[in-house]
Amino acid sequence: MGKIGFLFPLMVLLLLPPFGATLSAGSPNISTDQLALLVLKSHVTYDPRNFLASNWSTSASVCNWIGVTCGSRHQRVTALNFSAMSLTGSFPPHLGNLSFLAWLDIHNNSFQGSLPIELANLRRLKYLNFANNSFSGEFPSWFGSFTQLQSLYLDGNNFTGVIPSTLGNLSKLEILILDYNNLKGPIPAAVGNLSNLKWSSTVGNI
Ligand SMILES: *[C@@H]1O[C@H](CO)[C@@H](O)[C@H](O)[C@H]1NC(C)=O
Ligand SMILES: *[C@@H]1O[C@H](CO)[C@@H](O)[C@H](O)[C@H]1NC(C)=O
Ligand SMILES: *[C@@H]1O[C@H](CO)[C@@H](O)[C@H](O)[C@H]1NC(C)=O
Ligand SMILES: *[C@@H]1O[C@H](CO)[C@@H](O)[C@H](O)[C@H]1NC(C)=O
Ligand SMILES: *[C@@H]1O[C@H](CO)[C@@H](O)[C@H](O)[C@H]1NC(C)=O
Ligand SMILES: *[C@@H]1O[C@H](CO)[C@@H](O)[C@H](O)[C@H]1NC(C)=O
Ligand SMILES: *[C@@H]1O[C@H](CO)[C@@H](O)[C@H](O)[C@H]1NC(C)=O
Ligand SMILES: *[C@@H]1O[C@H](CO)[C@@H](O)[C@H](O)[C@H]1NC(C)=O
Ligand SMILES: *[C@@H]1O[C@H](CO)[C@@H](O)[C@H](O)[C@H]1NC(C)=O
Repeated sequence: MGKIGFLFPLMVLLLLPPFGATLSAGSPNISTDQLALLVLKSHVTYDPRNFLASNWSTSASVCNWIGVTCGSRHQRVTALNFSAMSLTGSFPPHLGNLSFLAWLDIHNNSFQGSLPIELANLRRLKYLNFANNSFSGEFPSWFGSFTQLQSLYLDGNNFTGVIPSTLGNLSKLEILILDYNNLKGPIPAAVGNLSNLKWSSTVGNI
């Protein structure tokens, strides 16, 4: 009994992996961002003006790709702007790895499908504009994770369900445009009460 009590902690120590092995695998960098955008590129099924086909090449830094902006401090992707590029495609879960993303504007394209829950990791988002695409599925309640969000444009898509009350967590929200979807019911009181909200609109829903 006494012997086993002494040996057991020793065995546990010997079975633990060395420090560092788990640390290095868990720190995202600009390579993480490059991979996320290459996966997005592979999910773009139609790019009539060949914006991504030639420009998004691994021979150039991801920070010089068209529509991509990096921050000077951390050398990570901070903004994506693909508005009005006539792109068709869907959003892969890998986009949730763009952990420094603050600005995401893809309005006036034809992105479709539902949004992957991994996007909830984008905690630095301040501006999100998905207007005039063909996204579908229930309005994700995990939008309540975007605590820095100031502007949210989802107008002209096919989102269904109700406007989630988790949006009431977005204390910095100023603009909320949800026109022309298939949403049911009013803006929840918790959202309408947000003290920074200046402009909200839900015309053209059920
Ligand atoms: C990013 O991190 C990986 C390991 O997690 C490393 O292999 C790679 O060289 C790093 N890339 C840059 C550009 O620092
Ligand atoms: C990609 O587009 C950017 C912005 O238009 C341009 O500065 C860059 O030279 C292009 N890169 C390639 C490889 O075509
Ligand atoms: C985003 O791209 C569009 C079209 O290329 C351009 O008109 C607009 O100024 C860009 N916005 C930002 C913030 O860079
Ligand atoms: C998006 O489409 C609307 C309506 O067609 C238009 O007013 C707006 O200028 C477009 N935005 C861009 C960046 O082309
Ligand atoms: C990024 O996200 C994808 C899918 O969510 C995941 O499989 C991948 O391992 C993640 N990490 C890196 C460093 O790319
Ligand atoms: C989306 O399109 C509608 C009508 O085509 C337009 O009124 C609206 O301004 C567009 N939204 C954005 C953010 O460009
Ligand atoms: C929404 O879905 C309907 C039925 O599937 C389709 O006819 C319509 O074009 C879609 N609208 C948008 C903006 O994707
Ligand atoms: C947001 O608020 C809801 C209550 O409306 C709460 O249950 C939830 O945990 C909060 N957090 C997030 C990240 O949505
Ligand atoms: C919203 O504000 C009204 C009026 O100030 C208050 O009566 C109500 O309880 C608030 N609702 C929520 C969900 O915060």
